[in-house]
Amino acid sequence: MASLGVNIDHIANIREARRTVEPDPVPMAMLAELGGADGITVHLREDRRHIQDRDVELLRQTVRSRLNLEMAATAEMVAIALKVKPDMVTLVPEHRQEVTTEGGLDVVAQLSELTAMVSQLQASDIPVSLFVDPVTTQLQGCRDSGARWVELHTGRYADAGWKAQPHELARLTEGTATARVMGLRVNAGHGLTYQNVEPVAAIPGMEELNIGHTIVARAVVVGLQQAVREMKALIQNPRRDPLFGQALE
Ligand code: PXP
Repeated sequence: MASLGVNIDHIANIREARRTVEPDPVPMAMLAELGGADGITVHLREDRRHIQDRDVELLRQTVRSRLNLEMAATAEMVAIALKVKPDMVTLVPEHRQEVTTEGGLDVVAQLSELTAMVSQLQASDIPVSLFVDPVTTQLQGCRDSGARWVELHTGRYADAGWKAQPHELARLTEGTATARVMGLRVNAGHGLTYQNVEPVAAIPGMEELNIGHTIVARAVVVGLQQAVREMKALIQNPRRDPLFGQALE
């Protein structure tokens, strides 16, 4: 049965929209764990548009499941990972203008640089996963890099209409089987939702799904009524001490 890695970048996205301190992804990670998350995933982007260095440092101290650090394959990020020591590093492609990660890594084109980074991280006991499309040549590159894990990009499956979706699911299923035969362990993620996750979770050999946006979106939906109720109660009951919740005399 596949496990669940919860990506909490979107919580930091809301905070950074106002450059304030709330919502803080650190306590939210604890709530995700209480909800059953088997791991917490964050992407420390080079432009720091959502997750900040401070978040990663605090999450390293507080996450009780597993901390998966997504990052670009750069010397700056490798230095951070070696310092923070997450439970896994997932190397992803990164472009300044993109809204979110688009497409998998071209491992074949960057094999020598990636091989050096994988060996540096794995020498420090940090397992490395490479985020790739389910394409055999790329999986061969992953194996050749020395990485022990891949994360298959599910974006094309998620974006496909109902006609193309079975084909995209078959690509993920075959990609998983091919990677396993090569000795790689397999995660997947990107664009998975409450509507489309089940067939991917059922792929034989699939170990973990990394899911973010749909969970944070759902949290807003199921939590909004309560949040409004609490604000209304504060406004309508000004005799309440805002810090301690006790009635003021
Ligand atoms: N896996 C990777 C490598 C990602 O870059 C992302 C997006 O940050 C995810 C999983 C989660 O994608 P989503 O937010 O669409 O669930």
